[in-house]
Amino acid sequence: MLMAPRNLLPLAGISLLTSIPLAAKVTFSENVAPIIYKRCAGCHRPGEAAPFSLLNYDDVKKHGSLIASVTAARIMPPWQALPASYPYKDSRRLTDDELATIQTWVKEGMLQGDPAKTPALPKFTDGWQLGTPDLIVKVDKPFTVPAEGADIYRYLRIPLNLPEDKWVQAIELRPSARKVVHHVLYFASATEEAKRIEAEEEASQSPSAGMKFTRSMVPLGGVAVGAQPHRLPNGLALKLPKGTDLMFQYHFHPIGKEETEQSTIGLYFAKKAPDHTLTALQLPVSYGLFSGLNIAPGQKDFKVGDSFVLPVDVQAVSISAHAHYIGKTMKMTATFPDGTVKTLLDINNWDFAWQDRYFFENPILLPKGTKLEGEVSWDNSEQNEKNPSRPPIHVAWGEQTKDEMGAVTLAVYPAAESDLATLRDTYQLHVKLIARQRIRQDPSVLVKLRELTGDPPPAPAPAPSTQERR
Ligand code: HEC
Repeated sequence: MLMAPRNLLPLAGISLLTSIPLAAKVTFSENVAPIIYKRCAGCHRPGEAAPFSLLNYDDVKKHGSLIASVTAARIMPPWQALPASYPYKDSRRLTDDELATIQTWVKEGMLQGDPAKTPALPKFTDGWQLGTPDLIVKVDKPFTVPAEGADIYRYLRIPLNLPEDKWVQAIELRPSARKVVHHVLYFASATEEAKRIEAEEEASQSPSAGMKFTRSMVPLGGVAVGAQPHRLPNGLALKLPKGTDLMFQYHFHPIGKEETEQSTIGLYFAKKAPDHTLTALQLPVSYGLFSGLNIAPGQKDFKVGDSFVLPVDVQAVSISAHAHYIGKTMKMTATFPDGTVKTLLDINNWDFAWQDRYFFENPILLPKGTKLEGEVSWDNSEQNEKNPSRPPIHVAWGEQTKDEMGAVTLAVYPAAESDLATLRDTYQLHVKLIARQRIRQDPSVLVKLRELTGDPPPAPAPAPSTQERR
């Protein structure tokens, strides 16, 4: 498992006493249990993904010092986005006060206090989180994850057999062996193509064979361990044409015991076609393929960036980032026509193991003329614990574990649906110009591009709200 060093982040800047009256000692029953139950117990309970339960005083005390260090380092709860200009839905991040309370409690010797004052455990919904799905389907063939070995990236096919085109608003995944499923990215693909990829995957021996993106697949979002499912807002939905199968890219993590995984998937359909069309603005475009990724061994802060000025008013719905293991920071800002700068996403310690999509509490109106800037940085030094190459090697753009790519993707819809073509065309033109410029500087990019797709990759479709509580 990829974990950042526990003591990486000092406690500097965190006031340890913010929420606690001076004389009173922090107790589990009154101060700590409410935080643990709200922020940790959803995953740290039997049958869920975390390796141990945090459901009572003894559980929490037993892991006390580890809890103090992983929360201080912001490794737990998993949530990479720093607070930005707009609040996110279902944020798992501990507030500074909550963090301070945990730290003080551990320092003061983990007092229990009066057990009668411990709050009741939250009621967790078992089964489908969004109610009965409109369609329940299953991964075609079970997949066996060995007890030991490298993490495995693998596409599994889910036949849909849709009688007609459908609009999907949410996807809920129920793995059969959830302890080995770390995250899953969802795609739709024409059935024939999906079968071809399935056969290719079955023939491949490489554990990271399923790490690549295939152009013919339409991204539908994904789920990281522990994420809460919700529907796309404002009646938004993504089209699943008849003749489509789902292809899910699984990240499996062996747990010391062989497990067989065959997920059940619930699909929630919209009653009608949405009034607005979601589209994706990715910066840098094409996961940085045209950004001249060329990272020398030992290079600590290799940055690429890209910007795009909105040709029409849009509503921003969600944002996500992607890179491989040595990705370090990801940021997207919006500079409004009046000069105001807002931060949409800010990640300062990327962890490939926790790929999340961040939904804004409410869609954000970004007016025509707003400049979006996306920036990604990588740390290819030996000090980067997540570096898969020891010693570090030269890293270029590519799809395998030791290659890199990176981008921030904003899911938007035009405020006026009639502006859709302008938005898409302007963005596609931006992609083309960047690609052309890069190919002029470095003709080998064209070879790579042909290998990948035959021609420049399109903007990825945005992800719906398709996450599940694990
Ligand atoms: C979204 C699910 C989720 C939530 C929420 C969550 N955890 Fe975890 N936790 C995990 C998983 C999964 C692991 C196993 C390691 C991994 O996969 O990264 C883990 C591991 C840990 C570990 C062991 C780390 C190690 O290095 O061995 C500690 C301690 C921990 N969690 C504490 C907490 C605390 C405290 C909270 C709440 C403040 C919390 N977790 C919230 C999923 C979660």
